[in-house]
Amino acid sequence: MPTALVAPTEVGRIYGDVGLGEFRVSLAAPLERGEYLSVEDETRRPVLCQLDDVERRSDLNMERASQLARGAAIPVSESFFGKVRVVGYREGSVVKVPQIPFRPGSSVHRAGEELIAEVLGIRHNPVTGAYVGLLRGHNLRVELDINALVQRHVSVLAKTGGGKSYLVGVLLEEFLRHRVTCVIIDPHGEYGSIRYKSEHAPRDRARFGVEAQGFRDQVQEFSPDTSLNPEARPLTFSLGNLDARELLTFMGFTNVRSYLSPMKSLLEAAASANPDFTVKDLIRAARNVQEGGVSYESIAERLEYLDETRLLAPRGTSLSDLVVEGKMTIINLRGVAPDVQELIVTRVATSFFEQRKRGKIPPLFVVLEEAHNFCPQQGQAACSRILKTIASEGRKFGLGMCVVSQRPARVDKSVLSQCATQLILQVTNPLDVKAIASSIEGLTDGMTEMIQGLPIGTCLVTGGGFHTPLFCEVRPRASRHGGESVKIVPGS
Ligand SMILES: Nc1ncnc2c1ncn2[C@@H]1O[C@H](COP(=O)(O)OP(=O)(O)OP(=O)(O)O)[C@@H](O)[C@H]1O
Ligand SMILES: [Mg+2]
Repeated sequence: MPTALVAPTEVGRIYGDVGLGEFRVSLAAPLERGEYLSVEDETRRPVLCQLDDVERRSDLNMERASQLARGAAIPVSESFFGKVRVVGYREGSVVKVPQIPFRPGSSVHRAGEELIAEVLGIRHNPVTGAYVGLLRGHNLRVELDINALVQRHVSVLAKTGGGKSYLVGVLLEEFLRHRVTCVIIDPHGEYGSIRYKSEHAPRDRARFGVEAQGFRDQVQEFSPDTSLNPEARPLTFSLGNLDARELLTFMGFTNVRSYLSPMKSLLEAAASANPDFTVKDLIRAARNVQEGGVSYESIAERLEYLDETRLLAPRGTSLSDLVVEGKMTIINLRGVAPDVQELIVTRVATSFFEQRKRGKIPPLFVVLEEAHNFCPQQGQAACSRILKTIASEGRKFGLGMCVVSQRPARVDKSVLSQCATQLILQVTNPLDVKAIASSIEGLTDGMTEMIQGLPIGTCLVTGGGFHTPLFCEVRPRASRHGGESVKIVPGS
């Protein structure tokens, strides 16, 4: 049998000037950007590399191309070139890059899965691994380290409809399997569906090794509006714990300042007459104010509205009901006005932080959907301050945060920069791409371009226990996804 001149895995040869971190390869056939390659260094040790850019060059000029268009038989000779990034080789727990550039002319091979897994740090960890999907183009399970996620926070970023909530659902399923206590701030009421088994039979459920599963026993849901969200238990606050400003926000006033002083005096008077005063007592007091004028009248009207919302109760929802070890609590804010949502987030986030500091509640992972509304880069939301505190200090107390947003450029930069793990799906807005590129170490130009064209279900993972950013095909959901896009015209 004749011996093959070229090894079957060889894809090309190094040419031109060779740098320590980057080189060019002449390819025998086109390869996809992002493909893992290997090259032997001076000591013949295989080093992992990644194709960062590909170019198809040809001798076809404009004139011959137009002859081709007119039907002429024009031969085209073409060749393929790639720009390759050196990832490195593993020595114990560290990944190193050779200190001598590869030799021009060296063979470049397709990397084997063993080398990829070893250098990237992909390994099965049944205790702390959250299985989110497969390494793109390979059969390697990408498992994020749950401790790294909780201790160092995580962000999930993509344009609208990019698959953020789907991916967060995958993460939460893993957290539930590992009995991690979680709270979801859910402005659209889409996470309750995690109780139920997924009805879809994803094409490649077998490839990913995922079985349908619902998590009914581990999920509880609270909402200030239980008529709109009937599966939820009421989320209430006790009147005695609110100050005048908070009460005015709950009442729906936008110009809180103009009503602050009359509200304060009403509260003081009601509390001195009866320490267990109710909203009805406040309404009566507001109506009784002589020469009260318009402000007392509108306070009384708004208090009546507040009384109907049932947001206030003699005893508010207790923290021990809200946070239960090993369970997931959904705070469903569907139907709640934005400023009231902010206030609710402020109150729950503050008590999580304070009680976690004292060790009164278990270590906790809080998911913040629509984070650009709760901790915006410009302007102020009532809850901005506590969320920034959790982002910077939460890890000391076992309070992790998952920041989810469709507008990364509009999320407070200090919050985003505290997220050591980033899960990025397709992002196209140039400002958002810029915000992401500036907040991730080790992101190459090629990867930044790839983020803009990612197909649904593929995400870039940075951090999470991995040495270098990698692309992951998100695994199918075991439970039902609640954020299905709504079709205006029915059809397939
Ligand atoms: N990994 C995936 N596999 C299959 N389908 C997916 C995947 N990710 C998302 N989808 C589908 O894409 C659609 C949008 O996903 P999703 O609701 O997660 O987007 P989103 O980024 O949260 O959007 P929004 O910004 O509007 O909240 C859904 O219909 C969902 O079923
Ligand atoms: Mg969503």
